Amino acid sequence: MTAACFAALGHHVTVRDIDAERIAALNDGQSPIYEPGLAELLEKHADRLTYTLSMPRLLTAARIVFVAVGTPPTYSGDADLSSVVAVVDELSAVGPASDHVIVMKSTVPVGTGQRIASALRSRGLTNVSYVSNPEFLREGTAIGDFMDPDRVVIGDFESSAGDQVGALYRPFDCPVVRTTVPSAEMIKYASNAFLATKISFVNEIANVCEEVGADIDVVARGMGLDPRIGSSFLRAGIGYGGSCFPKDVAALKQLAGNSGYHFQLLNAVIEVNELQKRRVITKLKKHLGPLDGKSIALLGLTFKPGTSDMREAASLVLAARLIAEGAQVRAYDPVVGPRAIEPVRGVSVCPSPEATIEDADAAVLVTEWPELVHLDWPRLRPLMRQAVIVDGRNALSPQLMAQAGYVYEGIGRIAEMPADAAENRAAAAAGVEPAT
Ligand SMILES: NC(=O)c1ccc[n+]([C@@H]2O[C@H](COP(=O)([O-])OP(=O)(O)OC[C@H]3O[C@@H](n4cnc5c(N)ncnc54)[C@H](O)[C@@H]3O)[C@@H](O)[C@H]2O)c1
Repeated sequence: MTAACFAALGHHVTVRDIDAERIAALNDGQSPIYEPGLAELLEKHADRLTYTLSMPRLLTAARIVFVAVGTPPTYSGDADLSSVVAVVDELSAVGPASDHVIVMKSTVPVGTGQRIASALRSRGLTNVSYVSNPEFLREGTAIGDFMDPDRVVIGDFESSAGDQVGALYRPFDCPVVRTTVPSAEMIKYASNAFLATKISFVNEIANVCEEVGADIDVVARGMGLDPRIGSSFLRAGIGYGGSCFPKDVAALKQLAGNSGYHFQLLNAVIEVNELQKRRVITKLKKHLGPLDGKSIALLGLTFKPGTSDMREAASLVLAARLIAEGAQVRAYDPVVGPRAIEPVRGVSVCPSPEATIEDADAAVLVTEWPELVHLDWPRLRPLMRQAVIVDGRNALSPQLMAQAGYVYEGIGRIAEMPADAAENRAAAAAGVEPAT
């Protein structure tokens, strides 16, 4: 994605990956991931994009080297830096002649840049510079986020290296935060941890709303109009997932712990998020009783719409819990197929939403793909055995679902509201941005 966007800005970009399948797909003109607009961008700027498995080829072609390898969590919760280290090791093979600028786009713990810089120096690579340039894009809107950023963060050890990276972002009219490498690294973790906190906070407010008869859509709207709070990430649901929030929150908690600080708030953020996914089970049991032998349809599998990413998707936890309860689980997703849910054994993946909900006792909207939200729900109602809908993303209209004959359960929403209050709530829901 970074490569495609820099190519679109007029740069010649060489992409190196160790995954031969990914490089073959790219050389065949295919995008290796589902990201809206990416395939078109890769095709449009194909003449400025070269794909290779060879690090020497990359290092000959380019001086500025963006590192965007994965940094998944380890069992201890720390970030796994082995791919980052592998890139630096290979770069070292060039020897003292190298004057490359390593730009870290991967999310790495605070202190990583300093460690890499001293490793480079100890190997005699005194002309290699290191810049931290964390990435803030969101999957599903990655190209727009890259091309119209709300900020660019550049941390450097020598300003000349930071200047070279800053020049690449000159076409953008946005604030550029120039800082030290540790501060740049921390900005990324703190941003993701704050957003995750906001999600867990609004989810807890939604849970309390259910206890006291308040409606989270209206509450979130009323909160979000305060500019100190803001309306984004205030839509309650079944929690955050994906490749970034869970691992980055865990890594920050771990980083703090490793430095002797107990980051109490993040423990709660993580725990609330875990419990939130499981509330769906309680809601299903409320209407269906024991789930043993019940047929449950999961609509949407990816961790959010607009992506094929299944990392830390709520669907995985939900499906596994349902199967443990003895339910029969069928699922549908507009983008991913059976392979995506393979880690959970026993889920049947259906070719359409209709086939998924046929004879089901309940359906759970897990991912708010527009084509699922805008299904012809009244027409589908007779297909279901019992028409219980758990809306895990508060994306459906409780009123319309009730009118269509469904038993509707959202997260912290009042299902039956007087008409004027319901209208207010619809306006409120439209004004509150989703939290996925
Ligand atoms: N995905 C996002 O939305 C997002 C947003 C912001 C930041 N980030 C950060 O960006 C980094 C990458 O995330 P991702 O989701 O693209 O990960 P990913 O796992 O989907 O992709 C990483 C790629 O790096 C390749 N790779 C691994 N080792 C390599 C090596 N030694 N040399 C060259 N390529 C190598 C892998 O084969 C893979 O294609 C992570 O640190 C992540 O936290 C991701």
